[in-house]
Amino acid sequence: MTKNGDLWKWIDAGVVHVTGADISKAHVDEGKRRFDEVCQSGKQKRLQAVDVALVDLCHPEFEKMAAAQWKVPVKEASYDLVECNFGLHYAFGTRETLVRLLTFASKCLKPGAFFIGTCVDGDALVSMAPETDTKLDVALSMEAAWGKVRTCPHRLVCLDIP
Ligand SMILES: C[S@@+](CC[C@H](N)C(=O)[O-])C[C@H]1O[C@@H](n2cnc3c(N)ncnc32)[C@H](O)[C@@H]1O
Repeated sequence: MTKNGDLWKWIDAGVVHVTGADISKAHVDEGKRRFDEVCQSGKQKRLQAVDVALVDLCHPEFEKMAAAQWKVPVKEASYDLVECNFGLHYAFGTRETLVRLLTFASKCLKPGAFFIGTCVDGDALVSMAPETDTKLDVALSMEAAWGKVRTCPHRLVCLDIP
């Protein structure tokens, strides 16, 4: 899930190739614009490509849909790192969507390589929210407009997962 917000971190870390996916065309386009801008300024260092598919990572067929778009095919056990910064909560709609995404991430990683994911602690968020009639639980979702293209349901993340 990326609009290349971590572009400079990848460059600083000496990353060579990034494969990504995002549901929003506006964000995929913005990611491309950021990468092109960096390349034009000659500051990309070792980073050769950021290959982002326009796909809903909660869709049951997302792997097939993304594979049809990625320029470099994703091979199993070939990635040094998988990251999902402030995007993981979108997959918390159902256990199935979360497990499907994490299973794919795990499949892509080399043995011993790392997954880094960041998200808001749903319980902490709820405890800070004002009293309301609305039923707040892990299934609560808020709609957010991303790039005015479509809406993505925001999910609360329960970190106390059995
Ligand atoms: C808060 S942004 C963070 C993105 C990334 N960490 C970055 O800095 O570029 C969350 C991203 O998740 C994307 N997103 C939300 N739901 C998604 C889904 N179901 N599949 C793929 N991307 C999704 C949004 O379009 C947005 O670009």
